[in-house]
Amino acid sequence: MNVSVPADPQPLHPGLSSDPGNVDLGSAALVSPLPHSPGVVNSPVNSPRLGILASGSGSNFEAVMQAIAQGQLQAEAAVLIYNQPGAKVADRAHQWQVPSLLLNHRDYGDREGLDRAIVATLHQFGVQWVVMAGWMRIVTPVLIEAFPQRIINIHPSLLPSFKGIRAVEQALAAGVRIAGCTVHLVVADVDSGPILMQAAVPVLATDTVDTLHARIQVQEHRILPAAIAQAVASQGG
Ligand code: GAR
Repeated sequence: MNVSVPADPQPLHPGLSSDPGNVDLGSAALVSPLPHSPGVVNSPVNSPRLGILASGSGSNFEAVMQAIAQGQLQAEAAVLIYNQPGAKVADRAHQWQVPSLLLNHRDYGDREGLDRAIVATLHQFGVQWVVMAGWMRIVTPVLIEAFPQRIINIHPSLLPSFKGIRAVEQALAAGVRIAGCTVHLVVADVDSGPILMQAAVPVLATDTVDTLHARIQVQEHRILPAAIAQAVASQGG
């Protein structure tokens, strides 16, 4: 297990152990961040604690952090879990001073084993809501049943169309003229849970997977934080 924690950590949640295992929490004073730029985000006490799962660049992680910093999302990023060594999202977490943890799926015998490690970590960090912000692993009931109705996923298609991997490629291949993204609650069937929010974008004749994905991502960065805020509010935090 590879843990990276900020030099200037957030105060621990009252319900969280002050001795989170092998995590060195450091002792430096809190730093005041520039507005809306990476740094410590001082969330109000009792903000829901988010555990964010991501596999890649982390532009959606960034959008969530920006929304928290700007007061559009009342929440606290308790921990980032990522599964790909060297993923850029880990650098972003470091900049925002969010603890990050590499749980490499290759180190586990099966999906359940990885999910058990994820659940243990999320509990260790006092997480109340889980956000899959570009998490490219299928999750199992081990994780889903540990956070019932409290796991949120962003998918780059207008579900129920184009579930699974390479959703943008699937949309282009199908010749649709409208594409988009969906934020939904996670259930056992992949990309099938209750839809929280969607946004549509046009597909242009000249589009490649990259250009269409970039257009979709602009909308992802808007609706993921908004849907988290809405979901948290609907369940009273
Ligand atoms: C996002 O477009 C997200 O919708 C997608 O991965 C990308 C991650 O981008 N998720 C899936 O395909 C999940 N099935 P990011 O790392 O820049 O946030």
